[in-house]
Amino acid sequence: MSAYELIDHEYDVVVVGAGGAGLRATLGMVQAGLKTACITKIFPTRSHTVAAQGGVAASLANMSDDSWQWHMYDTVKGADWLGDQDAIEYMCREAVPSVYELEHFGVPFSRTDEGKIYQRPFGGHMRDFGAAPVPRACAAADRTGHAILHALYQQSLKFNAEFFIEYFAIDLIMEDGVCKGCIAWDLSDGTLHRFRAQSVVLATGGYGRSYFSCTSAHTCTGDGNAMVARAGLPLQDMEFVQFHPTGIYTAGCLITEGARGEGGYLTNSEGERFMERYAPTAKDLASRDVVSRAMTIEIREGRGVGPKKDHIDLHLEHLGGDILHKRLPGITETAKIFSGVDATKDPIPVLPTVHYNMGGIPTNYHGEVLNPTKDNPDAIVPGLMAVGEAACVSVHGANRLGCNSLLDIVVFGRAAALRAAETIKPGALQGPTPKAADDYALSRLDRLRHADGSSYVAEIRLNMQNAMQRDAAVFRTAESLQEGVKAVSDIATTLKDIKLADRSMIWNSDLAEALELENLMVCSISTIVGAEARHESRGAHAREDFPNRDDQEWMKHTLSWCDEAYKVKLDYRPVHTYTLSKDIAYIEPKARVY
Ligand code: FUM
Repeated sequence: MSAYELIDHEYDVVVVGAGGAGLRATLGMVQAGLKTACITKIFPTRSHTVAAQGGVAASLANMSDDSWQWHMYDTVKGADWLGDQDAIEYMCREAVPSVYELEHFGVPFSRTDEGKIYQRPFGGHMRDFGAAPVPRACAAADRTGHAILHALYQQSLKFNAEFFIEYFAIDLIMEDGVCKGCIAWDLSDGTLHRFRAQSVVLATGGYGRSYFSCTSAHTCTGDGNAMVARAGLPLQDMEFVQFHPTGIYTAGCLITEGARGEGGYLTNSEGERFMERYAPTAKDLASRDVVSRAMTIEIREGRGVGPKKDHIDLHLEHLGGDILHKRLPGITETAKIFSGVDATKDPIPVLPTVHYNMGGIPTNYHGEVLNPTKDNPDAIVPGLMAVGEAACVSVHGANRLGCNSLLDIVVFGRAAALRAAETIKPGALQGPTPKAADDYALSRLDRLRHADGSSYVAEIRLNMQNAMQRDAAVFRTAESLQEGVKAVSDIATTLKDIKLADRSMIWNSDLAEALELENLMVCSISTIVGAEARHESRGAHAREDFPNRDDQEWMKHTLSWCDEAYKVKLDYRPVHTYTLSKDIAYIEPKARVY
């Protein structure tokens, strides 16, 4: 691949991605005196964290009693006992200092009359180990992610973090199982770059765009996940895909769960508040998997609203203009723009929409990437970390609770920096990196750049998204999943026949989208193969043919290796059934009742 020249850079740490997790990691690294580069394919404040609305979870107890032990219990239960309890304990304990830290970084949280951080109830967050909903989501109106992202970017600049903006990371540089850096393409001038680093932190977000209808930005294409897969490492629990109950009907844009936290509720075509039947205690504030399934059942049984009876109504009109203006201004505007509804007067039409990937790159709670072996299911990959939605720590297990995502990104972004400060020697000399790694990344780029088959990127992507939407949905069966595995595998083979129209190197969005499509395909096929193999229902993975959770057989993490031909191999590793301290005992599995 001598036709391409590489410009060299050397850092202690390279963070890939500048959403909340990437920025929190970057900030922590520079504060620790590590020479850190953050490379990002979009401008940092355009990252998908900007779209997170309702809040960040922490048991501050500003509005009523709360404790990190209750938060931990809810998270373990919400995760349907697939979460690692050591990591969950870490996250829930660290939530309180992490949110105060955000406050000190300048996040403009909404306030109570006493001036404390305002908190609202959110799905699955309860007091007294499941007794009743508790206000735990610390909110900046309904623009919490936006506020956090901007504060973290400002702090990172203040501490002189170096940003490489509109750089697309193509692949990792691996040698003998150790990560030594990554290769990236500068979209703006077409140059190619080799970043050598003692540690690479993948903070590349989720892969919502594997589906046709999702709340995720167009940039959520699983780039880090696919880089890891191409390095021969496994992904974990990819079959667990969260549907958010309230995506706007047809458009898919998010209407925050905070809307129900403020007192909003769902009704069917009979005007019934049906969640009372499915979750008598938590009602509309049950966890997302429960609410999404209830809505799907209502529609299937003919009680959907609208001429086609194919969606559900979300009522906020009773809250009044003042509350909507003060607490939910963003979604009031979104409802107007995307469904033409004045939320102060009429219900918003909503439908469960793909929102979050519980699965991803396996890590421990320090953010270190795992390459499990039979002897050591927690073996780490030297030089490689992952944080945020790209990672599977696993604190969300089979289903994430709302507002635990903004928490995850700040807690584990910070944890990765703390670990790097312990393990990395600032300025340590780095040796040369293997030519084979450069050649691998560059030949992939070159192959796609000159691809001259007969199927355009958009065509293949749409086929894949439609197959995932149809076959790996809220409810799954052997039939749908087997059809899905075949369909996605067949669609993956059409990548060999891809056609690009633009051969340039400068702002070639055709080439960027082709790279993203290959990344999405890795994630899609891993998701559907993992789902077909898991013969139980747990969290967001609801099998109609296996309706019960089977802890005996299936309380284990799925590991999936996806090869270059999009063939997936599966194995499993144990869930961590221990806590970190004596302050809380392991929470035994039991039936989930809301
Ligand atoms: O509903 C929401 O505001 C989304 C929050 C989340 O996914 O954590």
